Amino acid sequence: MNLNVDAFYIIISLVLNLYLGRELLINENTKGKIRRRRRRRRRKRKRKPTRTFMEIESDLKKSSSPVTSMDQRWSLNGTTALVTGGTKGIGHAIVEELAKFGAIVHTCARNETELNECLKQWEDKNFKVTGSVCDVSSSVQRKKLMEDVSSVFQGKLHILINNAGTGIVKPTAECTAEDYSHIMATNFESALHVSQLAHPLLKASSSGNIVFISTIGTFIVYQGGAIYSASKGAMNQITKHLACEWAKDNIRVNGVAPSVIKTPLIENLFVSMTHLQLRL
Ligand SMILES: NC(=O)c1ccc[n+]([C@@H]2O[C@H](COP(=O)([O-])OP(=O)(O)OC[C@H]3O[C@@H](n4cnc5c(N)ncnc54)[C@H](OP(=O)(O)O)[C@@H]3O)[C@@H](O)[C@H]2O)c1
Repeated sequence: MNLNVDAFYIIISLVLNLYLGRELLINENTKGKIRRRRRRRRRKRKRKPTRTFMEIESDLKKSSSPVTSMDQRWSLNGTTALVTGGTKGIGHAIVEELAKFGAIVHTCARNETELNECLKQWEDKNFKVTGSVCDVSSSVQRKKLMEDVSSVFQGKLHILINNAGTGIVKPTAECTAEDYSHIMATNFESALHVSQLAHPLLKASSSGNIVFISTIGTFIVYQGGAIYSASKGAMNQITKHLACEWAKDNIRVNGVAPSVIKTPLIENLFVSMTHLQLRL
Protein backbone atom coordinates (compact mmCIF):
# COMPACT_ATOMS: atom_id res chain seq x y z
CA MET A 1 0.00 0.00 0.00
CA ASN A 2 2.77 2.42 0.98
CA LEU A 3 4.59 1.44 -2.12
CA ASN A 4 1.46 2.16 -4.17
CA VAL A 5 1.02 5.61 -2.58
CA ASP A 6 4.69 6.39 -3.19
CA ALA A 7 4.39 5.19 -6.77
CA PHE A 8 1.25 7.32 -7.22
CA TYR A 9 3.04 10.45 -5.98
CA ILE A 10 6.06 9.70 -8.15
CA ILE A 11 3.87 9.27 -11.24
CA ILE A 12 1.90 12.46 -10.48
CA SER A 13 5.07 14.48 -9.97
CA LEU A 14 6.58 13.00 -13.16
CA VAL A 15 3.44 13.93 -15.11
CA LEU A 16 3.45 17.42 -13.60
CA ASN A 17 7.18 17.87 -14.29
CA LEU A 18 6.75 16.71 -17.85
CA TYR A 19 3.72 18.97 -18.33
CA LEU A 20 5.37 22.02 -16.76
CA GLY A 21 8.59 21.24 -18.61
CA ARG A 22 6.63 21.19 -21.86
CA GLU A 23 5.01 24.47 -20.91
CA LEU A 24 8.43 25.94 -20.23
CA LEU A 25 9.64 24.51 -23.49
CA ILE A 26 6.66 26.03 -25.31
CA ASN A 27 7.34 29.37 -23.63
CA GLU A 28 11.00 29.14 -24.53
CA ASN A 29 10.12 28.24 -28.10
CA THR A 30 7.65 31.12 -28.36
CA LYS A 31 10.17 33.56 -26.90
CA GLY A 32 12.78 32.23 -29.29
CA LYS A 33 10.42 32.69 -32.21
CA ILE A 34 9.66 36.28 -31.19
CA ARG A 35 13.37 36.98 -30.80
CA ARG A 36 14.14 35.49 -34.19
CA ARG A 37 11.30 37.47 -35.80
CA ARG A 38 12.60 40.72 -34.26
CA ARG A 39 16.13 39.94 -35.42
CA ARG A 40 14.85 39.31 -38.98
CA ARG A 41 12.95 42.60 -38.93
CA ARG A 42 16.03 44.49 -37.68
CA ARG A 43 18.17 42.91 -40.43
CA LYS A 44 15.57 43.88 -43.02
CA ARG A 45 15.56 47.45 -41.80
CA LYS A 46 19.36 47.58 -42.01
CA ARG A 47 19.34 46.14 -45.51
CA LYS A 48 17.05 48.96 -46.73
CA PRO A 49 19.23 50.91 -49.19
CA THR A 50 20.00 54.48 -48.07
CA ARG A 51 18.91 57.04 -50.55
CA THR A 52 21.47 59.45 -51.90
CA PHE A 53 21.03 63.17 -51.51
CA MET A 54 20.40 63.40 -55.28
CA GLU A 55 17.57 60.85 -55.05
CA ILE A 56 15.93 62.68 -52.14
CA GLU A 57 16.25 65.99 -53.99
CA SER A 58 14.75 64.53 -57.16
CA ASP A 59 11.83 63.03 -55.15
CA LEU A 60 11.21 66.41 -53.55
CA LYS A 61 11.12 68.03 -56.98
CA LYS A 62 8.66 65.41 -58.23
CA SER A 63 6.41 65.82 -55.19
CA SER A 64 3.38 68.04 -55.46
CA SER A 65 4.78 70.38 -52.75
CA PRO A 66 5.07 73.91 -54.08
CA VAL A 67 8.15 74.46 -51.88
CA THR A 68 11.08 74.22 -54.28
CA SER A 69 13.41 77.14 -53.85
CA MET A 70 15.27 78.59 -50.87
CA ASP A 71 13.56 81.97 -51.33
CA GLN A 72 10.15 80.36 -50.96
CA ARG A 73 11.10 78.41 -47.84
CA TRP A 74 12.74 81.36 -46.12
CA SER A 75 11.42 84.82 -45.56
CA LEU A 76 12.52 87.68 -43.36
CA ASN A 77 9.75 89.96 -44.56
CA GLY A 78 8.89 92.52 -41.93
CA THR A 79 12.02 91.93 -39.84
CA THR A 80 14.56 94.60 -38.95
CA ALA A 81 18.32 94.09 -38.81
CA LEU A 82 21.41 96.02 -37.78
CA VAL A 83 24.70 94.85 -39.33
CA THR A 84 27.76 96.71 -38.11
CA GLY A 85 30.49 97.18 -40.72
CA GLY A 86 28.35 96.43 -43.75
CA THR A 87 30.24 98.24 -46.51
CA LYS A 88 32.92 95.62 -47.13
CA GLY A 89 33.76 91.94 -46.81
CA ILE A 90 31.63 89.65 -44.64
CA GLY A 91 29.34 92.46 -43.38
CA HIS A 92 28.55 93.54 -46.95
CA ALA A 93 27.58 89.96 -47.87
CA ILE A 94 25.40 89.68 -44.74
CA VAL A 95 23.56 92.93 -45.52
CA GLU A 96 22.77 91.69 -49.05
CA GLU A 97 21.70 88.24 -47.88
CA LEU A 98 19.33 89.62 -45.21
CA ALA A 99 17.91 92.19 -47.63
CA LYS A 100 17.36 89.48 -50.28
CA PHE A 101 15.22 87.60 -47.78
CA GLY A 102 13.13 90.69 -47.20
CA ALA A 103 14.63 92.19 -44.05
CA ILE A 104 14.93 95.95 -43.61
CA VAL A 105 18.59 96.54 -42.80
CA HIS A 106 20.53 99.34 -41.15
CA THR A 107 24.32 99.30 -41.36
CA CYS A 108 27.27 101.43 -40.37
CA ALA A 109 30.88 102.12 -41.28
CA ARG A 110 33.47 104.86 -40.73
CA ASN A 111 34.00 105.80 -44.37
CA GLU A 112 31.04 108.00 -45.41
CA THR A 113 31.81 107.96 -49.16
CA GLU A 114 31.92 104.16 -49.26
CA LEU A 115 28.76 103.94 -47.15
CA ASN A 116 26.86 106.24 -49.52
CA GLU A 117 28.09 104.29 -52.56
CA CYS A 118 26.85 101.04 -51.01
CA LEU A 119 23.48 102.57 -50.08
CA LYS A 120 23.05 103.74 -53.68
CA GLN A 121 23.88 100.26 -55.05
CA TRP A 122 21.43 98.62 -52.65
CA GLU A 123 18.71 101.08 -53.58
CA ASP A 124 19.28 100.18 -57.26
CA LYS A 125 18.77 96.52 -56.31
CA ASN A 126 15.53 97.41 -54.49
CA PHE A 127 17.00 96.43 -51.12
CA LYS A 128 15.70 98.32 -48.10
CA VAL A 129 18.96 99.45 -46.48
CA THR A 130 19.75 102.58 -44.49
CA GLY A 131 23.05 103.57 -42.91
CA SER A 132 24.92 105.68 -40.38
CA VAL A 133 28.49 106.83 -40.27
CA CYS A 134 29.84 105.40 -37.05
CA ASP A 135 33.13 104.29 -35.56
CA VAL A 136 32.05 101.45 -33.29
CA SER A 137 35.19 101.79 -31.19
CA SER A 138 33.76 105.06 -29.80
CA SER A 139 31.19 104.81 -27.02
CA VAL A 140 29.59 108.16 -27.95
CA GLN A 141 29.19 107.11 -31.59
CA ARG A 142 27.73 103.72 -30.59
CA LYS A 143 25.02 105.52 -28.59
CA LYS A 144 24.28 107.78 -31.57
CA LEU A 145 24.10 104.71 -33.86
CA MET A 146 21.52 103.03 -31.63
CA GLU A 147 19.43 106.23 -31.51
CA ASP A 148 19.38 106.15 -35.33
CA VAL A 149 18.43 102.46 -35.31
CA SER A 150 15.67 103.01 -32.78
CA SER A 151 14.24 105.86 -34.80
CA VAL A 152 14.45 104.04 -38.20
CA PHE A 153 12.92 100.82 -36.82
CA GLN A 154 10.48 102.44 -34.36
CA GLY A 155 12.02 100.84 -31.29
CA LYS A 156 12.02 97.23 -32.52
CA LEU A 157 15.04 95.25 -33.70
CA HIS A 158 14.89 91.57 -34.67
CA ILE A 159 18.48 90.91 -35.75
CA LEU A 160 21.80 92.33 -34.59
CA ILE A 161 24.96 91.20 -36.37
CA ASN A 162 28.07 92.31 -34.48
CA ASN A 163 30.39 92.15 -37.46
CA ALA A 164 32.53 95.31 -37.51
CA GLY A 165 36.03 94.36 -36.52
CA THR A 166 39.65 94.68 -37.31
CA GLY A 167 42.79 92.59 -37.06
CA ILE A 168 46.42 92.77 -36.20
CA VAL A 169 49.22 90.33 -36.90
CA LYS A 170 52.25 91.14 -34.82
CA PRO A 171 54.55 89.19 -32.51
CA THR A 172 53.05 89.58 -29.03
CA ALA A 173 56.27 90.93 -27.52
CA GLU A 174 56.09 93.86 -29.96
CA CYS A 175 52.41 94.75 -29.35
CA THR A 176 51.87 98.13 -27.71
CA ALA A 177 49.23 99.28 -25.24
CA GLU A 178 47.66 101.24 -28.14
CA ASP A 179 47.46 98.09 -30.30
CA TYR A 180 45.70 96.31 -27.44
CA SER A 181 43.23 99.18 -26.75
CA HIS A 182 42.41 99.62 -30.44
CA ILE A 183 41.72 95.92 -31.02
CA MET A 184 39.75 95.45 -27.79
CA ALA A 185 37.66 98.60 -28.35
CA THR A 186 36.86 97.75 -31.99
CA ASN A 187 36.26 94.02 -31.66
CA PHE A 188 35.11 93.38 -28.10
CA GLU A 189 33.88 96.53 -26.33
CA SER A 190 31.92 97.62 -29.39
CA ALA A 191 30.11 94.28 -29.71
CA LEU A 192 29.31 94.15 -26.00
CA HIS A 193 28.12 97.77 -25.77
CA VAL A 194 26.07 97.66 -29.00
CA SER A 195 24.38 94.51 -27.69
CA GLN A 196 23.61 96.21 -24.36
CA LEU A 197 22.18 99.25 -26.16
CA ALA A 198 20.20 96.98 -28.51
CA HIS A 199 18.77 94.86 -25.69
CA PRO A 200 15.53 96.88 -25.15
CA LEU A 201 14.91 97.01 -28.92
CA LEU A 202 15.54 93.28 -29.36
CA LYS A 203 13.29 92.52 -26.40
CA ALA A 204 10.56 94.76 -27.83
CA SER A 205 10.56 92.70 -31.06
CA SER A 206 9.57 89.59 -29.00
CA SER A 207 11.93 87.59 -31.19
CA GLY A 208 15.44 88.98 -31.05
CA ASN A 209 18.62 87.50 -32.49
CA ILE A 210 22.25 88.42 -31.98
CA VAL A 211 25.10 86.97 -34.00
CA PHE A 212 28.70 87.71 -33.01
CA ILE A 213 31.28 87.33 -35.77
CA SER A 214 34.19 85.70 -33.98
CA THR A 215 37.11 83.81 -35.55
CA ILE A 216 38.57 80.34 -35.83
CA GLY A 217 41.63 81.96 -34.24
CA THR A 218 39.88 81.49 -30.89
CA PHE A 219 40.29 77.72 -31.29
CA ILE A 220 43.65 77.47 -33.02
CA VAL A 221 46.94 79.34 -32.75
CA TYR A 222 48.48 81.28 -35.59
CA GLN A 223 51.59 83.42 -35.41
CA GLY A 224 51.06 87.03 -34.35
CA GLY A 225 47.37 86.58 -33.57
CA ALA A 226 47.39 86.69 -29.74
CA ILE A 227 45.67 90.06 -29.18
CA TYR A 228 43.17 89.67 -32.02
CA SER A 229 42.25 86.15 -30.87
CA ALA A 230 41.96 87.30 -27.26
CA SER A 231 39.47 90.03 -28.27
CA LYS A 232 37.38 87.42 -30.09
CA GLY A 233 37.81 84.88 -27.28
CA ALA A 234 36.21 87.43 -24.94
CA MET A 235 33.45 87.77 -27.54
CA ASN A 236 32.85 83.99 -27.45
CA GLN A 237 32.48 84.19 -23.69
CA ILE A 238 29.84 86.95 -23.79
CA THR A 239 28.05 85.00 -26.52
CA LYS A 240 27.52 82.15 -24.04
CA HIS A 241 26.56 84.44 -21.16
CA LEU A 242 24.09 86.56 -23.12
CA ALA A 243 22.56 83.42 -24.64
CA CYS A 244 21.71 82.27 -21.10
CA GLU A 245 20.86 85.69 -19.60
CA TRP A 246 18.63 86.94 -22.42
CA ALA A 247 16.86 83.72 -23.36
CA LYS A 248 14.06 84.80 -20.99
CA ASP A 249 13.60 87.91 -23.15
CA ASN A 250 13.24 85.75 -26.30
CA ILE A 251 16.63 86.83 -27.57
CA ARG A 252 18.69 84.12 -29.22
CA VAL A 253 22.45 84.68 -29.12
CA ASN A 254 24.94 82.84 -31.32
CA GLY A 255 28.48 83.19 -32.56
CA VAL A 256 30.08 82.32 -35.87
CA ALA A 257 33.82 81.67 -36.03
CA PRO A 258 34.96 81.86 -39.66
CA SER A 259 38.27 80.68 -41.00
CA VAL A 260 40.14 82.81 -43.54
CA ILE A 261 37.83 84.58 -46.00
CA LYS A 262 39.33 86.76 -48.70
CA THR A 263 38.10 90.24 -47.77
CA PRO A 264 39.77 93.69 -47.76
CA LEU A 265 40.73 93.07 -44.11
CA ILE A 266 42.55 89.85 -44.93
CA GLU A 267 44.15 91.23 -48.08
CA ASN A 268 45.60 94.15 -46.11
CA LEU A 269 46.66 91.91 -43.23
CA PHE A 270 48.43 89.46 -45.49
CA VAL A 271 50.50 92.26 -46.99
CA SER A 272 51.79 93.02 -43.50
CA MET A 273 52.07 89.32 -42.69
CA THR A 274 54.60 88.45 -45.39
CA HIS A 275 57.40 88.96 -42.92
CA LEU A 276 55.79 86.19 -40.82
CA GLN A 277 55.91 83.90 -43.88
CA LEU A 278 52.18 83.14 -43.83
CA ARG A 279 50.33 82.62 -47.08
CA LEU A 280 46.66 82.91 -48.08
N1 LIG B 1 37.94 87.79 -43.31
C1 LIG B 1 38.25 86.81 -42.52
O1 LIG B 1 38.99 85.88 -42.89
C2 LIG B 1 37.69 86.74 -41.14
C3 LIG B 1 37.87 85.57 -40.42
C4 LIG B 1 37.34 85.48 -39.14
C5 LIG B 1 36.65 86.54 -38.62
N2 LIG B 1 36.50 87.69 -39.33
C6 LIG B 1 35.77 88.78 -38.69
O2 LIG B 1 34.72 89.18 -39.54
C7 LIG B 1 34.44 90.55 -39.38
C8 LIG B 1 34.45 91.24 -40.72
O3 LIG B 1 35.72 91.05 -41.31
P1 LIG B 1 36.02 91.37 -42.83
O4 LIG B 1 37.13 90.49 -43.21
O5 LIG B 1 34.78 91.39 -43.62
O6 LIG B 1 36.58 92.88 -42.66
P2 LIG B 1 36.68 94.08 -43.74
O7 LIG B 1 36.77 93.52 -45.09
O8 LIG B 1 37.78 94.97 -43.26
O9 LIG B 1 35.30 94.83 -43.53
C9 LIG B 1 35.07 95.46 -42.29
C10 LIG B 1 33.83 96.29 -42.33
O10 LIG B 1 33.64 96.83 -41.04
C11 LIG B 1 33.76 98.27 -41.08
N3 LIG B 1 34.51 98.68 -39.89
C12 LIG B 1 35.77 98.37 -39.55
N4 LIG B 1 36.11 98.97 -38.42
C13 LIG B 1 35.03 99.69 -38.03
C14 LIG B 1 34.76 100.54 -36.94
N5 LIG B 1 35.68 100.81 -36.01
N6 LIG B 1 33.54 101.11 -36.86
C15 LIG B 1 32.60 100.86 -37.79
N7 LIG B 1 32.79 100.06 -38.83
C16 LIG B 1 34.00 99.48 -38.96
C17 LIG B 1 34.48 98.57 -42.39
O11 LIG B 1 34.13 99.83 -42.91
P3 LIG B 1 35.04 101.16 -42.57
O12 LIG B 1 36.45 100.76 -42.80
O13 LIG B 1 34.54 102.21 -43.49
O14 LIG B 1 34.77 101.49 -41.16
C18 LIG B 1 33.92 97.47 -43.28
O15 LIG B 1 32.65 97.80 -43.74
C19 LIG B 1 35.49 91.09 -38.41
O16 LIG B 1 34.95 91.13 -37.12
C20 LIG B 1 36.58 90.05 -38.46
O17 LIG B 1 37.31 89.98 -37.28
C21 LIG B 1 37.01 87.81 -40.59
